[in-house]
Amino acid sequence: MPVYSATELLEKSIITYRGEPVGTAAACDPKPAAPNYEECFVRDFVPSAMVFLMRGEYAIVRNFLNTVMSLRGQQSVMPGHQRAIGLMPASFRVVSENGEERLQADFGEMAIGRVAPVDSAMWWMFLLRAYVRISGDTAFARERTIQECMRQTLELYLKESFEAAPTMLVPDGSFMIDRRMGVYGHPLEIQALYFGMLNTALELLEECEEHAAIRRTIAIRSSALRSYVRIYYWMGRDRLNEIHRYHSEEFGPDARNVLNVYPESIPDWTDGWLKPGTGYLVGNVGPSRVDFRFFAMGNLLAILMGLASEDEAQAIMRLYHHRWDQLVGEMPLKILYPAVEDKEWQFMTGSDPKNAPWSYHNGGNWPVLLWPFIGAARRTGRMDLAEHAFFDMGKRLTRDHWPEYYDGRLGSLIGRRANFNQVWSAAAYLISRELMENPAAGELFDRMCHEQQP
Ligand code: GLC
Repeated sequence: MPVYSATELLEKSIITYRGEPVGTAAACDPKPAAPNYEECFVRDFVPSAMVFLMRGEYAIVRNFLNTVMSLRGQQSVMPGHQRAIGLMPASFRVVSENGEERLQADFGEMAIGRVAPVDSAMWWMFLLRAYVRISGDTAFARERTIQECMRQTLELYLKESFEAAPTMLVPDGSFMIDRRMGVYGHPLEIQALYFGMLNTALELLEECEEHAAIRRTIAIRSSALRSYVRIYYWMGRDRLNEIHRYHSEEFGPDARNVLNVYPESIPDWTDGWLKPGTGYLVGNVGPSRVDFRFFAMGNLLAILMGLASEDEAQAIMRLYHHRWDQLVGEMPLKILYPAVEDKEWQFMTGSDPKNAPWSYHNGGNWPVLLWPFIGAARRTGRMDLAEHAFFDMGKRLTRDHWPEYYDGRLGSLIGRRANFNQVWSAAAYLISRELMENPAAGELFDRMCHEQQP
């Protein structure tokens, strides 16, 4: 039974600290692809937490929020730098020494490629809001330590850093795709999480004199970010045509082609790919640079964080309908489309063999993406698509032992270096099943996500 198997895996993955549950391991594979998969990753804990919240098990989520907050001081500081108090770790583990337990956090300094976990604090804020909304424990958010933590986080995430747009500038590999994959600059997933974080702050940061200035800044930034993404990231037939006929090298305030995108940079695969009425938010935008790839998590989070408009959300789901084999395939769903190959793969990934074309981050299929997909389908009234994606999933994932990802254009092969018993694959299945079968869980889910913004 899939539910039984997924629940058992989730229970087995629970990490305790001094007798209290504080998180879940990323994978329970005796031979993991890397040793840190036995740690609790902040982003991987999110689907686990959603399952616990749906079940009314609040303590583990609250302990997790407190634990991650308390670990911020462990960040090692490079000479000549200051500790960025708002940064949260990518993951943590419990170390036992002389019969004593202590927590050890990783801020990326032990991760492959030493990537900075920019998304951690944003997921932490998402969970803080979800926890408060579902448990009703509003006093928790008002605690002095939590208010201070939110403020310090926002101070870091609102800091100026050579910005030319309201979007947030980040280094490579700063979110779920934590390897070199051309995802530096202004990747969509970070922008969707950032939007959610800003709006959470407006809800949970207490209105007092001390917060007046930062609250004003947040409100302006959130609305500027929303307009900017809806204008510059949106790709539909009309927009593609506009770019196709753009003049470039325009100078001054009246320029129409503001980012100086060269029509020659439009990839061939886009020709005819977007049927009328379909569209999506592109992966990244910068000077003369549009990353036309379709990133699933970014698009789905844009729907669930209220960043995509109602029409955009509908168009994205219609695109899923029309391009099912390419974007969903045999195992939901494709992390990004299309994969980069040959020379482009060499330049973009640094010849990373784990990110070979149609594998892992480079166009692999990830079962964890099932939860935001089913959630987005629910929000847009496309339960037909949810049913199609969900059909038979549990049986296959159980049989395959909950792999981390699948390979191939259609995602029909278990990922070559995928872990088995990957916890967020199981948690995503459990959330999705609740959304498919239990209307009360659907309402809880809606409360965990953000309202659609006009
Ligand atoms: C990989 C994934 C990352 C995930 C981690 C643990 O590094 O890219 O998103 O958090 O594994 O599962």
